[in-house]
Amino acid sequence: MKKFCVFGNPIEHSISPKLHNEAFRAFGIDANYTKILLESADKLKESFLKLKLSGANITVPYKEAAFGICDEVFGIARKIEAVNTVVQKNDKLFGFNTDALGFFKAIQDFGNIQNALVLGAGGTAKAVIFILRENGIHVELLNRSKDRIEFFKKNKINAFSWDDYSPKKYDLIINTTSAGLKDENLPAPKELLSQILRNAKFGFDVIYGKKTPFLTLCEENILTCKDGADMLLYQAVLAFNLFFDNKYDEKKITEAMRKILS
Ligand SMILES: NC(=O)c1ccc[n+]([C@@H]2O[C@H](COP(=O)([O-])OP(=O)(O)OC[C@H]3O[C@@H](n4cnc5c(N)ncnc54)[C@H](OP(=O)(O)O)[C@@H]3O)[C@@H](O)[C@H]2O)c1
Repeated sequence: MKKFCVFGNPIEHSISPKLHNEAFRAFGIDANYTKILLESADKLKESFLKLKLSGANITVPYKEAAFGICDEVFGIARKIEAVNTVVQKNDKLFGFNTDALGFFKAIQDFGNIQNALVLGAGGTAKAVIFILRENGIHVELLNRSKDRIEFFKKNKINAFSWDDYSPKKYDLIINTTSAGLKDENLPAPKELLSQILRNAKFGFDVIYGKKTPFLTLCEENILTCKDGADMLLYQAVLAFNLFFDNKYDEKKITEAMRKILS
């Protein structure tokens, strides 16, 4: 039996085991996927090898650490320097980032997008910004504080903190902060955010499973909105296919996993 898991801290909330185990069932694959609470980043590689895993997903706060344990890293994960999917092959660890493409697939329902504003400057913001830019969408960033925006400036992204930003017109506004996850906070001051949303068409929150204050404000400004459920679904579908050399039908994996989310 092949073994897989998701590593994170906290990890209790993760529905990745349900998604992947349902897909194993759908294809009759002899495999099992569990969740592992990891106390520190330096135990990541040791735990992966000790558990004799064929592959794993890595969630907050270990995606940067996962980048560091891989023998080779592919695609957008190299730019973001964060890995959420590790696959073991011939005693080597290969790293990927499926959050980026998962997000991009999730916004396809919105139709044509020329420009976007990303709220937040953490790991998820990196994935979202690089995939938007790779696909020809002009993107700017707005973050609460200044420290983390230097990485983006170095990568030639127009990046601002609340103090030095003036609202502009964008098609899409994306919340990648954790504001609203366990509290009722907005990702930016209400007055500033309202000015931005008034001129936008679409709102996306990477948080899933609840209507965040950000999505409520988007709706009040008559934006077409989505939460992060499809992003979660697609990053899992893409990870599943990486675990198995892309040999399974993506549509069938999506159908199996969507059953869990609905
Ligand atoms: N749907 C999915 O599949 C998916 C995938 C990945 C992640 N996520 C979600 O994405 C979220 C962010 O994850 P992450 O790993 O990028 O986090 P992170 O690296 O810790 O980044 C957090 C960012 O949020 C900002 N922030 C935190 N609290 C804030 C507040 N109250 N007001 C304004 N800004 C605030 C921080 O600003 P400062 O720099 O000023 O501290 C920072 O820019 C989490 O909720 C996670 O669950 C969803």
